[in-house]
Order: sequence, then C-alpha cells, then structure tokens
Amino acid sequence: MNDGDGVSTAPDRGSRFGPLGTALVIIPTYNEAENIKAIVGRVRESVPAVHVLVADDNSPDGTGKLADELAAVDDHVHVLHRTGKEGLGAAYLAGFRWGLERDYGVLIEMDADGSHQPEELPRLLTALGHADLVLGSRWVPGGRVVNWPKSRELLSRGGSTYSRLMLDMPLRDITGGYRAFRRETLEGLGLHQVASQGYCFQVDLARRSVKAGYQVVEVPITFVERAHGDSKMSRDIVVEALWRVTSWGVTERVGKLLNPRGK
Ligand code: GDD
Ligand code: MN
Repeated sequence: MNDGDGVSTAPDRGSRFGPLGTALVIIPTYNEAENIKAIVGRVRESVPAVHVLVADDNSPDGTGKLADELAAVDDHVHVLHRTGKEGLGAAYLAGFRWGLERDYGVLIEMDADGSHQPEELPRLLTALGHADLVLGSRWVPGGRVVNWPKSRELLSRGGSTYSRLMLDMPLRDITGGYRAFRRETLEGLGLHQVASQGYCFQVDLARRSVKAGYQVVEVPITFVERAHGDSKMSRDIVVEALWRVTSWGVTERVGKLLNPRGK
C-alpha cells in the first residue's frame, strides 16, 4: 500500500503480535536497490504478522520504485517517499510519525542491507514483553559482528564506550540500529525535540529512554556486514556524533553540579 493514496492504512487488528499489538518494521533506505527485495522478503517470512515501512530518501538508484513494486503485491508493505537525503535520524522520525499515526503497538528499526538479521526479530519481540525498549546488541555476551574491518569495529566500540562514559549509561551497544520500541516508549521520548541527523540519532534515543526511566534491555545479535552496496557512514556523521554526545554529557554534568539533588 502506498502512502500517497490517501487510503487509511490502519493495520488489521487480527494480525496483532500478541498483547503488544501489530509491529511495524521501519527500514530507512538510501541507494539500497540491491538489498531492498531480499530484506523485505526475509522480514515478512520471519514474522508474517509484521508490517514493513520503507522510508526512502528519493534514492537515485530507484530503491523507492522497487519498494513500491513490493507494496503493490503485499498489503503488509508500505512506502514513505521523502524528497531527498536528510540523514538516518530524519528518516526514522518520519517513519515513527507515520507508524504512531496508525494503530501500531511496536515500532522496530532495521537497516536495509542485511546487517540486522530478520531471523533474530522474534527474539527482540519476545524480550519486549518485559521491557520498554529492546536493543539488538553486538557488544554483550553472545553478540558479535561478522565481516567488519577492524577499523570499523574500533570506531563502533569506541563510540559506544565514549557515549556510555560521557552519558553515564549502563548500556554496551548505544549506537546500534536494530531496536524494538513499544509505542508508549516512543510517545514518551519527546521526539519533536530530536535534532540528531546522522547515526547519533541512535545514541540520542537510547539516552532519552534511560533518562525517562524506561526499562532498556539488550539482547545479543549477530551483525553481518553488508554484501551489496555501500555504507553511508561518513566523516560528517562521526563529527556530529562526537560533538552532540560531548555536549549532552557536559550539559548533564554542569546541571548536576549546579543542582546536585536534581530538583
Ligand atoms: N532514508 C535514509 N536517509 N536512509 C539512510 C540514510 C539517509 O540519509 N543514511 C543511511 N540510511 C540507511 C541505509 O540505507 C541503511 O538501510 C541504514 O540506514 C544503515 O546505513 P548503513 O550505511 O548501512 O550503516 P552502517 O552499516 O555504516 O552503520 C550501522 O552501524 C551504525 C553504528 O553502529 C548501522 O547499524 C547504524 O544504524 C548504526 O548506527
Ligand atoms: Mn550497513
């Protein structure tokens, strides 16, 4: 079903995933033509009750058109066409808004490139039965990464460690992008205030969830580096993450110094 047709896309209550409600897997895409069909197919096969929303930033390689073709033959697949590349954070915010306007009880983040394996989704959903937010985690016992160059592993581990120390959060994989949120959790995070554009969006949402007192649980995942297409990680994304995490950390610390009892 296409977002542009004006038809209500409220999911069928009969397809609800247990007491949490119907789950929506949001897949942001920018130039993922080689991956989109496989990932949507794997999600639908792994948990047939879920719906999928592809949030495409007008990919020059035609990913959006391929997603439309999938949506045309599967009423559990939807496409949100955005006008241009605005970053992972903006695409997720638009996808969350789309899902929250409808009747979804669970909203899931997943990359398009196969790094987040749909076959592990049932484990995330099961864990959400006892949590407000579930993080698929590479850096807890049982979690791992396949086919990443050492440099990328160092960047990711370093990013998580820096964020954990700076923001004083007890989480191991703060930058990861395979997550399951209860609707109520997202509704309580103040999403309209989120300004993070790149991958620090993930740190931002983890930080907001912990601060809001939600129960955040990490479950181990096996992250498999993409076989097709290119990572959109860039220097600008790293720089944005570094300055935002640092400024959140400093602001928190100054706040605690000035107001130690938090009143
Ligand atoms: N719509 C849209 N707009 N999608 C985007 C954009 C954008 O500007 N930038 C990236 N994406 C999509 C990609 O198409 C892919 O589906 C997903 O976001 C992740 O992008 P990758 O480029 O494959 O990320 P990565 O493999 O380098 O990074 C992974 O690790 C990061 C750090 O741990 C991901 O899991 C990230 O989510 C994670 O933050
Ligand atoms: Mn990737």
